[in-house]
Amino acid sequence: MSELSVNHLLGIKYLKKDDIKLIFETADHFKEVINRPIKKVPSLRDITIANLFFENSTRTKLSFELAEKRLSADIINFSASQSSVKKGETLIDTVNNILSMKVDMVVMRHPNPGSCVFLSEHVNASIINAGDGAHEHPTQALLDTYSIRERLGEVRGKKVVIVGDVLHSRVALSNIFALQLLGAKVMVCGPKTLIPKYIDKLGVTVETDLKTALNWCDVANMLRVQNERMAISYFPSNREYTQQFGLNREILESLDKEITIMHPGPINRGVEITSDVADSDQAIILNQVENGVAIRMAVIYLLASKIKQ
Ligand code: CP
Repeated sequence: MSELSVNHLLGIKYLKKDDIKLIFETADHFKEVINRPIKKVPSLRDITIANLFFENSTRTKLSFELAEKRLSADIINFSASQSSVKKGETLIDTVNNILSMKVDMVVMRHPNPGSCVFLSEHVNASIINAGDGAHEHPTQALLDTYSIRERLGEVRGKKVVIVGDVLHSRVALSNIFALQLLGAKVMVCGPKTLIPKYIDKLGVTVETDLKTALNWCDVANMLRVQNERMAISYFPSNREYTQQFGLNREILESLDKEITIMHPGPINRGVEITSDVADSDQAIILNQVENGVAIRMAVIYLLASKIKQ
């Protein structure tokens, strides 16, 4: 396979296994490039990309921007809080105004699930989903599975548990799709109130005891409790959540094997994970962030190749 089967990256559910393999092979090349003294290639000198962030972001926004700069694309950055969206402009009007400035590709984060699919059906540009509400965060799942491949050699056959607020997590859904496409076994673990009712229909197992889940897995991906998406309280207090589902050194040392620890960030230190675990050699949290740049370079490069045809 030499090109992606899709013209947009809207979610992992639209990808085939070969798409992910191609993205990983391309990311391997770009990872080597960004470790050279001169970290830049001229590949996308003729491409202009708009980064539209309607929701807060640190890692994803900076990682996309760096990936675009490393590929020599021209970029414009848009933040909803400083824009005419505040004056009542619609999403399609905003994006079409930006596209009339001859933009080829749009990277968008938006609080509404499905907003990137909607945009791809109404505007003439390649769309990359940088996180749409509690729906999907495809580049996060790609960098997560790429980081598992890097640490453990391959993803196929590995057992991965996703722990915590699965209900509000776009990272969880995209990871479930990506891990299953690549042949991993997936479990989710958390309070029953934070596990979607029909999640077993996706072929994952459900566990409510953290130690049982950790004893089963090779990799634990710890999710942040997404208070900003909760209108009501889903557990009695942070203290009780941490007692039952927080990862700490004591529980890791009680296991009879060493597991790999992941977190998509931002971390709530002391809630879902203690600082000593997050900063330990078992954790690959900063490797995930580093790999995000190479993965996003690969996605942008492969989608841009389709625009140029
Ligand atoms: N992992 C992630 O999406 O982080 P940001 O919200 O900081 O982009």
